[in-house]
Amino acid sequence: MVDSAALSLVLLLSAVGAATVEKVNYDYYKYHPMPEISNWMTQTAQDHPDVVTIVDYGHTYENRKISLLKIGLSTGEKKKVIWMDCGIHAREWIAPAFCQYFVRQILQTYKTDPKMEEMMKNMDFYVTPVLNVDGYIFSWKDNTTRLWRKNRSPGTSSCDCYGTDLNRNFDANWGTIGVSYDCCSEIYCGSKPVSEPEAQAVTDFVGSRKDDFLCFLTIHSYGQLLLVPYGHPNFTADNYDELMEVGLAAADAIRGVHGKNYKVGTSPAILYPNSGSSRDWARQQGIPFAYTFELRDNGTFGFQLPEDQIQPTCEEAFTGALHIITYAHEKTFNGATAATAALWTMLLAASVTGANLM
Ligand SMILES: *[C@@H]1O[C@H](CO)[C@@H](O)[C@H](O)[C@H]1NC(C)=O
Ligand SMILES: *[C@@H]1O[C@H](CO)[C@@H](O)[C@H](O)[C@H]1NC(C)=O
Ligand SMILES: *[C@@H]1O[C@H](CO)[C@@H](O)[C@H](O)[C@H]1NC(C)=O
Ligand SMILES: [Zn+2]
Repeated sequence: MVDSAALSLVLLLSAVGAATVEKVNYDYYKYHPMPEISNWMTQTAQDHPDVVTIVDYGHTYENRKISLLKIGLSTGEKKKVIWMDCGIHAREWIAPAFCQYFVRQILQTYKTDPKMEEMMKNMDFYVTPVLNVDGYIFSWKDNTTRLWRKNRSPGTSSCDCYGTDLNRNFDANWGTIGVSYDCCSEIYCGSKPVSEPEAQAVTDFVGSRKDDFLCFLTIHSYGQLLLVPYGHPNFTADNYDELMEVGLAAADAIRGVHGKNYKVGTSPAILYPNSGSSRDWARQQGIPFAYTFELRDNGTFGFQLPEDQIQPTCEEAFTGALHIITYAHEKTFNGATAATAALWTMLLAASVTGANLM
């Protein structure tokens, strides 16, 4: 009797324990295939019903849902919005890993950090962990598809390759420079601006309420760069100086975390010219703080960044992203002086952290 009661209790406890452990134990420092990321999104929304909702805002070519996590505290007021997307290029696996880490960090900190709580009240974060879902799944298929970049739409009657480069397909100087019209190319820009459903989904969703967005952060790898608009060398963003100032401060903060150097500039200045990127489109729509993050590394492992670098990469990139987001928030809600002050405070904090770590 006693034994069996004790046994039931043990079984009950271990069942409860198992359920809890499963929730807590998502490994943010491993790469996850798409079904696990989808489950993680569902679980995250379930675990934080007051602050997280899932928004489906489009379909891929192969008719899979494109979804984001909307994260924020409801206040009844109209809020500003921060955009972050990861995984527009399939093979850049560190990017979806970063989006997931970013979500966890803001959900962990807003209850204890008054600034994060204030930001969660004034703004909603719209985070798409994987934008190019078809391509991401394809890159997990086997070791011959691991380096797939584009989406999975088929070519035309005259061209027999799959995939359009979604980051050349947006309606921003589309097709003018740094693209190919050959559908077999890695930088095929599609048959026309926004020919691809994935680019259409972002265009419709962001475009329908573009005045609400303060930041548009699109996460890629690799190269350790913060890219500002525009990819076309003949155009300069009207807030170029401010974008550079904030970007350089973010790069300083990144350096303070693990000592990694990130360069800041336009794509033609520090990478290569291009057209039709989502970042350029966002800036043309009037979203002021539009940046492309190119995460680690600087060529040693390239797209196949080892899992033991996920944590440090996410830590430093989180600091950089938070820098930009905090600046945008302070400028909008507390004025330009507060924004500058916030940058300095964060820089000092980052260098203290860096000193402790090294
Ligand atoms: C791909 O995987 C197969 C089976 O595991 C292996 O035999 C082959 O060498 C791998 N190819 C490459 C290019 O890594
Ligand atoms: C940029 O402007 C110059 C001068 O007008 C022109 O010659 C060049 O073709 C333009 N570049 C592109 C990529 O359009
Ligand atoms: C990355 O490596 C390249 C080639 O070695 C170098 O030119 C570049 O400055 C490096 N970038 C950074 C940010 O260290
Ligand atoms: Zn990319």
